[in-house]
Amino acid sequence: MMRPLIIVLATLAAAKDLQKLLRQMTLEEKLGLLHGSPSNYTGATTAITRLGVPRLLLNDGPQGFRAPPSLDGTSTAFPSGLAVAATFDDALAATWAATIASEFAKKGATVLLGPGLNVARVPFNGRNFEYCSGEDPYLGARMASAIIPAIQSQNVIATAKHYVLNNQETGRVGADSIIDERTWREIYLPPFESAVAHGALSAMCSYNRITLDNVTAWACGHRCEHPTTLQHLKEQSSVFVMSDWLATHSTQAIVKGLDQEMPSDFYFGSRLRDAVESGAVDEATIDAASLNVLRAMQTIGALGRAPRGDLMKDVSTPANRDIARRVAAHAIVLLKNNNILPLRTCAGLVVLGDLQNYTVGGGSGRVVGRTVSLTDAFETRCGIVEAYADLESEKAQDAVATATNVLVVTGSQSTEGADRSTLALDGEAMIDAAAKLNHNIIVACAAPGAFLTGWRDSVQAILTTWPGGQELAHALVDVLFGEVNPSARLPLTLPMTETDLKFTQRMYPGLPDPAPPKGCADPCLRVFYDEKLEVGYRRYDSHNIEPAYAFGHGRSYTSFVYGNLTVSLSQVTFDVRNIGGVAGAEVAQLYVVPPSSRGYQQLKGFHKTAVLAPGRVERVTLRFDARTFSAFLDGAWRRIPGSHELRVGASSRDARLRGTVDV
Ligand SMILES: *[C@@H]1O[C@H](CO)[C@@H](O)[C@H](O)[C@H]1NC(C)=O
Ligand SMILES: *[C@@H]1O[C@H](CO)[C@@H](O)[C@H](O)[C@H]1NC(C)=O
Ligand SMILES: *[C@@H]1O[C@H](CO)[C@@H](O)[C@H](O)[C@H]1NC(C)=O
Ligand SMILES: *[C@@H]1O[C@H](CO)[C@@H](O)[C@H](O)[C@H]1NC(C)=O
Repeated sequence: MMRPLIIVLATLAAAKDLQKLLRQMTLEEKLGLLHGSPSNYTGATTAITRLGVPRLLLNDGPQGFRAPPSLDGTSTAFPSGLAVAATFDDALAATWAATIASEFAKKGATVLLGPGLNVARVPFNGRNFEYCSGEDPYLGARMASAIIPAIQSQNVIATAKHYVLNNQETGRVGADSIIDERTWREIYLPPFESAVAHGALSAMCSYNRITLDNVTAWACGHRCEHPTTLQHLKEQSSVFVMSDWLATHSTQAIVKGLDQEMPSDFYFGSRLRDAVESGAVDEATIDAASLNVLRAMQTIGALGRAPRGDLMKDVSTPANRDIARRVAAHAIVLLKNNNILPLRTCAGLVVLGDLQNYTVGGGSGRVVGRTVSLTDAFETRCGIVEAYADLESEKAQDAVATATNVLVVTGSQSTEGADRSTLALDGEAMIDAAAKLNHNIIVACAAPGAFLTGWRDSVQAILTTWPGGQELAHALVDVLFGEVNPSARLPLTLPMTETDLKFTQRMYPGLPDPAPPKGCADPCLRVFYDEKLEVGYRRYDSHNIEPAYAFGHGRSYTSFVYGNLTVSLSQVTFDVRNIGGVAGAEVAQLYVVPPSSRGYQQLKGFHKTAVLAPGRVERVTLRFDARTFSAFLDGAWRRIPGSHELRVGASSRDARLRGTVDV
């Protein structure tokens, strides 16, 4: 009996007349779009069945569909965002994102709560593994430009998170990130700007407070005097902004640009209705927020059609697992190789340690997939391989002492909600002990961010895998035996020591807030971004700090030469030639040094070549954009006049070609 009505109204929606649709909604129905309600997903809105508006079903997370525990294994655990950043490969990032989103669609979710786009300011941040930006805004912006359209190509809404300056987990609820506008604009904002510029339909504001040029407010709105950050996003597009889970602090936040409270209705339910009825909030504000949500639903075709997908369904297909494996393999960074890799044979190999604790990070981004064990991956490749969990037994010690090659596998865990207490890998002692028994040590480590490599001189090769997802063991074997020639690069600097950055306590983790506001969790901190633009390699460069491994570093089983640089006002062109013995791809990077001592070299372009056969050359063109020679000065992005130095090369510390551009 309802059918004719639904068809009529579905047509209405399909006619894109959202205003008309909105006019038919009661206040209660509109509010249902603006707050969470119970569901078996991470979040949900309320359906308006009579108008053909289904529930919006939101789900974690950035590296795969996080199913309820009873459904563990029914979705693929993909490589983490940081791993994807390490690929420096737009096309592969897009494949990763589209594949994840396709599983969301099959599970019935209409919103993917990712990608994570925060820039890694402190190496200890417990969530660095989730973020696709590494420590560089340009890298994050490029990744966002590939990932956002790929997610939404599956008719799933992408969510740029956590907006913004949520760069540590210590005291994250209410920690006040105290920053100047230029640093915010140049370092932390670009990945989010890129996300909305590439059509992101939603964004998630974060738990922290922000003090931007001395004005303080919650990232999710709240106090009236500081609309800056949310309104900046709103000026760029009609993106709808949801709060991080329980990060809403008032009904007034809606006036500041927060459209949706998640996951419940504490402020944006009856309290917001009362505020509208008393005139404290204008109904036009509710209409605008509702329209933002409806527009996103319309864009993915969710209005006027029956919900699709099934939460119970197993959506992890062999094809998707292959993609997870391929991305994981192409995210593995070869830090060091004294001609020991690739392995040519399984004979004489002893494996020490395990990966099982390190394939995924913890918290809302955790996906429990059907994880391939290291043993299974080696068995597939080699048949039986001699493997030991540790070096405790005499048998293991003897095996290591007499092996041709020893692979030591270790890592470090990390989770949302806490920063890492150390940058050391769990297996440091095991690496040291193994290196005393055998010269031919290969280390493979799954680190959730930067890590220490004090043992690096006593081993022959090092592979960094990041939390690489359920297929990581296969991916590692692919790289060890040269089926995949490594081409990934460090998306963040690897330090010599935990204190390389020389941050004071006020910079990290921050000082106690003398006047903690209501809602600021203990410890309520004030975090001073005193380093300003000196984030990651910028700080290493400007303070002459020697890193263990530089941003952008990563080796290959072959080698490349660069040549034939030509520079114009709009682009650089150069050749990259494979002069080694095996096929491989190179990530060519462009760093720009502004004139005088006005700044540091900054990544402004990169390109991953095709897999080049030995002797083959690729001509690479990197086009400049509006920001290549610009900085945020006196309230706007402005070109810095003068002679800019261009460095083209294989890492931030391995320039192969130099040129200049006079602006
Ligand atoms: C969650 O799923 C169960 C089983 O299908 C169902 O009975 C329950 O109503 C669902 N809960 C919500 C809040 O939708
Ligand atoms: C912020 O306050 C400090 C201390 O009062 C002052 O030195 C600084 O100039 C202010 N910054 C801005 C951008 O207003
Ligand atoms: C994995 O983590 C658990 C809990 O922290 C620990 O007991 C176990 O030894 C770890 N396993 C490996 C192989 O590191
Ligand atoms: C530069 O161009 C010359 C002439 O085309 C070519 O022979 C040479 O290999 C190129 N250099 C590189 C690094 O490819």
